[in-house]
Amino acid sequence: MKSFSKRMPNLGTENAFAVITKAKQFEKESGVKLVYLQIGEPGFDTPENIKNATIAAVKDNQTHYTPTPGLPVLREAIAAETSKNACVEYEAKDVIVVSGGKPVMFYMMNALLDPGDEVIVPNPSYPIYGSVTEYLGATVVPIALRQENDFNFTIEELEAKITPNTKLIMVNSPQNPTGGVYTRELLAGIAELAKKHDLWVLSDEIYDRMVHEGEHVSITNFEGMPERTVILNGCSKTFAMTGYRIGWAVTKNAEMAAYIEQLACNDTSCVNTMTQYAALEALTGPQEQVEYMLQEYKNRRDLMVGLVNEIPGMNCHSPKGAFYLMVNVRELLDKFSITSAELCDRIMREAHVLILPGTVFGHFGEDLVRFSYVSSEEDIRDGLAKIKSYIESVYQT
Ligand SMILES: Cc1ncc(COP(=O)(O)O)c(C=O)c1O
Repeated sequence: MKSFSKRMPNLGTENAFAVITKAKQFEKESGVKLVYLQIGEPGFDTPENIKNATIAAVKDNQTHYTPTPGLPVLREAIAAETSKNACVEYEAKDVIVVSGGKPVMFYMMNALLDPGDEVIVPNPSYPIYGSVTEYLGATVVPIALRQENDFNFTIEELEAKITPNTKLIMVNSPQNPTGGVYTRELLAGIAELAKKHDLWVLSDEIYDRMVHEGEHVSITNFEGMPERTVILNGCSKTFAMTGYRIGWAVTKNAEMAAYIEQLACNDTSCVNTMTQYAALEALTGPQEQVEYMLQEYKNRRDLMVGLVNEIPGMNCHSPKGAFYLMVNVRELLDKFSITSAELCDRIMREAHVLILPGTVFGHFGEDLVRFSYVSSEEDIRDGLAKIKSYIESVYQT
């Protein structure tokens, strides 16, 4: 057989899925039922009005192709929503509806990157940023997000990473996996550097509604940024619609918008039509259920932060956004001379709770493990009681 393309070995993946496969295998072999505190998606069902809009669209025979960049009425709704956080008014033509948040990364980076280009990627961060960068033959330049800095970096640190080859900065606020939120000052500084060095920004704002303290600030709030930024957003997290697979790219750069549309046309032709009607209902319909979910995440965050900080050798700050909690476990790693992956494995096998090692999201995650607080209060209490009892039993030895 002739060989596969030279690009393929550079493509990474989401190692979180490998951890889940291992966990399922463990459950099968041991008969033990794990408590899942690692989940990266909303712990609620899709709101009824959105499900009903999906069904109504099918019954109304909305089952044919739409224009590649999406239904005009949906693009208008997205433009209006996105303009709330920007210094410009976005229009329908600035929006390309695609099959989830992930394709925005894939299309934008395909449109932009060549071998030799450098991409500044926060670390730890969503693994697909680095994976697609390397797949395209470009180079990942990591910038550390440290717990002691509330998972921000400094402008000096960023400027030191910029070279003549830098083309793109990945911005993700609120963040996965840290729950960190960039300050307005940091975003203003990133914007200044992007303009000074003529850089693009991919602003992943998929958790924009999940800011538990303060307000969401988009980098497109700063003058001159909408033309060099692609916003990534979608319905997956806010509206508990991960399986619907709908997201969107928003940019004031017409050439970039045209390339993203062309890539989407080559790839999927359009997003499935009933999903687009569901997204329209999500954005323009009643928001009570969303408000309820957001309040619940905040309650569960407070519960989880309190319980985690009672466990010997674990400490965390209260994250300002998303639904993740990064917990520092350095003391435990040193005490037992193990890695964060080994600690998570022990917690799975001995305490029967699944959490993720920080290294799934990059090497600056080594001191950390990631919990998510999308699970029910009952599961959060049960899982953390099990971890506490396990750690206490080994801590003294
Ligand atoms: C930071 C971040 N961006 C993008 C995505 C992808 O979203 P989607 O499921 O809509 O493709 C995720 C999903 O976990 C995420 O955490």
